Amino acid sequence: MTFPVNTISLNDGTSIPQVGLGTYRLEDDDAYRVVSDAFVAGYRHIDTARIYQNEAGIGRAIRESGIPRDDLYITTKLWNGDQPKARDAISSSLDRLGLEHVDLYLIHWPAPQRGTYVDAWKQLEVLQEDGLTTSIGVSNFEPEHLDAIAAVSDIVPVLNQVELHPLFQQKALRAEHAKRGIATEAWGPLCHGSVDLAAEMPTLVNLAERYSKSIAQVILRWHIQHGTIIFPKTSSKERLVENIALFDFELNAADMGEIDGFDAGRRLGTAPADGNWD
Ligand SMILES: NC(=O)c1ccc[n+]([C@@H]2O[C@H](COP(=O)([O-])OP(=O)(O)OC[C@H]3O[C@@H](n4cnc5c(N)ncnc54)[C@H](OP(=O)(O)O)[C@@H]3O)[C@@H](O)[C@H]2O)c1
Repeated sequence: MTFPVNTISLNDGTSIPQVGLGTYRLEDDDAYRVVSDAFVAGYRHIDTARIYQNEAGIGRAIRESGIPRDDLYITTKLWNGDQPKARDAISSSLDRLGLEHVDLYLIHWPAPQRGTYVDAWKQLEVLQEDGLTTSIGVSNFEPEHLDAIAAVSDIVPVLNQVELHPLFQQKALRAEHAKRGIATEAWGPLCHGSVDLAAEMPTLVNLAERYSKSIAQVILRWHIQHGTIIFPKTSSKERLVENIALFDFELNAADMGEIDGFDAGRRLGTAPADGNWD
C-alpha cells in the first residue's frame, strides 16, 4: 500500500514532496536497501549529503527502482571543505548518484569561520543556471547568514534545512523564513533519535491513543500542519510505512497547541556556529 503525500510550493516555481526519507548514518549498503524499501512504500523524496557517504548506494537504488527520474526528488548537499569548489563537489555527487541533475542542492552549514559560504552561494547560482541542480537552498543558516547572501544575490534560497522538533521549534526562525519566502525543512523531526519521546512528552501517549496513531505519527503530523517539510530517517521497513502514513488524519487546534507547548528551546544537535568540520 502506498500513501498520498502533499507537496509544498517553493519560491522558484517548483514543488517538493512534503515528506521524504532522511539517510544520515545509513552507509552505502544500508542506504541501498532502505531507499529501495522506501520507494516501494511510496517515498519519492530522498535527502542525502556528500558527507553521509551513501550517494552511491542511493544511486543504485534509484537506478534499480525503474521509477521515472521526473517522479523523484533528490536533495544533496555541499560539504564545508568543498565550499570553494562547488562545481567539482556537485559533479562528484552526481557521478556517485548516477544522475544528470539533483532537484535541490544545499550549502550544508554556513561554517562562517571559513569565510567562504557567500561565494559558495554565488557558485550555486551558476550550477543552477547550468542545470546541474533544479533548485538551490541552504541548511543551518541563521538570519545573519541569510542576510549575507541576500546582500550579494537576488536569488532567495528555496528553503533552509534546520534542526526542528517539538523540543526545539524555531518559532523566530520560521517567522523569518515566512517573511523572506523561504520554506522550512526540519532535520531531526523526531528529536534526532536522541530522546525517549514518551518520557519527555508524556501527554503524547494519550494523543496517540486518541487518534489511533503512533507517537511518531502524531509528531510528524504536527510538522505537516505547520507546513514544514520533513524526512524522518529510519532503517526499519515497518517504520518507513508508518512515517509516511500521515495524510489520513488531522490534529485539532487544541492538540496542535498542546504540542506547540512542548517547546523547550532545546537543541539536540550541533548549533550552526559550531558546524565547521572539514
Ligand atoms: N542538514 C543537517 O545538518 C542535518 C543534520 C542531521 C540530519 N539531517 C537530515 O535529517 C534527517 C532526519 O534527521 P535525523 O536522522 O537526525 O533524526 P530523526 O529523523 O528525527 O530521527 C531518527 C531516529 O528516530 C528513529 N525513528 C524513526 N522513525 C521512528 C518511528 N516511527 N518510531 C520511533 N522511532 C523512529 C530512528 O530509528 P530507526 O532507524 O531504528 O527506526 C532514528 O533513531 C537525517 O537522516 C538527514 O537526512 C540533516
